[in-house]
Amino acid sequence: HELKMNLQTIEKGGYRHFMLKEIMEQPRVLRDCMRGRLDPLSGKVTLGGLMPALDRLAKARRIIICGCGTSWHAALVGEYLIETLAKIPVEVEYASEFRYRNPVLFKDDVVIVISQSGETADTLEAVRVAKKHGCLCVGIVNIVGSSIARETDAGIYLHIGPEIGVASTKAFTGQVMALSMFTLVLAVQTGALLQDEANRLGLELAEIPDKIARMLNEDTLNKIQNMASTYRYAHNFLYLGRGTNFPVALEGALKLKEISYIHAEGYAAAEMKHGPIALIDEMMPVVILAPKSDVIYEKVKSGVQEVVARKGSVVIITDEGNHDLDDLAEFVIETPITSEYFSAMITGIPLQLLAYYIADYRGCEIDTPRNLAKSVTVE
Ligand code: G6P
Repeated sequence: HELKMNLQTIEKGGYRHFMLKEIMEQPRVLRDCMRGRLDPLSGKVTLGGLMPALDRLAKARRIIICGCGTSWHAALVGEYLIETLAKIPVEVEYASEFRYRNPVLFKDDVVIVISQSGETADTLEAVRVAKKHGCLCVGIVNIVGSSIARETDAGIYLHIGPEIGVASTKAFTGQVMALSMFTLVLAVQTGALLQDEANRLGLELAEIPDKIARMLNEDTLNKIQNMASTYRYAHNFLYLGRGTNFPVALEGALKLKEISYIHAEGYAAAEMKHGPIALIDEMMPVVILAPKSDVIYEKVKSGVQEVVARKGSVVIITDEGNHDLDDLAEFVIETPITSEYFSAMITGIPLQLLAYYIADYRGCEIDTPRNLAKSVTVE
């Protein structure tokens, strides 16, 4: 028993929980994810595991992305990336819904499945449904040699190392990185982007690990801890974002539910006025993702004013150096600036930390939350 304890301490790399270790190691694992694929000098992406399928991929009539939980949130980021940059129509489905609803599939559809473990039963079944219809099936998987990795026709491994914490953190960021690289390759292949344009975006990607490392400093951690201490007794939380930050809002809410057992909802920012605004009072913290690159930043800003007018307590996640919202917000977290396409990899991280510290204050079992399993291999 003692030996096992010591081993665990070593495995946690000096952190109190696997979850914190996995949050903090994101800069390093993202570099691993890009290594040998993204040339840091030219920005050009090459994905060996995709080569055999590239031709069929570029001719896809439509791409359907399936996953569960956090992987489904990454899929939503993927939808935005692929449609905007590669110009192929995308649908995102819960693997569980997809497999049971007799989907209409054509032979020139491509199904992408996303799964950290590569063992989730519903997602594996989605692969089988896709293949039965003759669709090309691509896997974005972390665990090498897992069932989904074996049954898909082509794929991309995350190469982020094992994820032990039940609440997924680095897998989300790694999935978004894999989808970003995938999109650049695909967009060149379809002709939607010139190689030069794709390379420029590739160079943006290459900078993300350093930007995350810079953000994860003592100051940021203290500020988030402070926020967590302020909000630890809340019963409800709202997370708002748009574009690629809408899935980040969903993921932030999921993290909080999973490990701190606080009810939380993620919403597309503009949907607030269609319902959730009715819930807002001084007991309801609202986390708003408001990068300035957002084409409707001004509208998001007026959303912040609406929350404040209803006495809601606002947390803002925004660009470094943006002090526009300091007077309105209770807390402002500044995040390094990147292209609007890739910001999910950066803005998601403060939300992981917020959930982590709140759960810690509440004395929750962070690495093994109640009723949850790391991978759900049964129906
Ligand atoms: C479980 C885990 C989640 C995970 C989901 C999908 O519910 O608790 O953290 O996102 O399964 O897992 P996968 O391994 O397929 O990504």
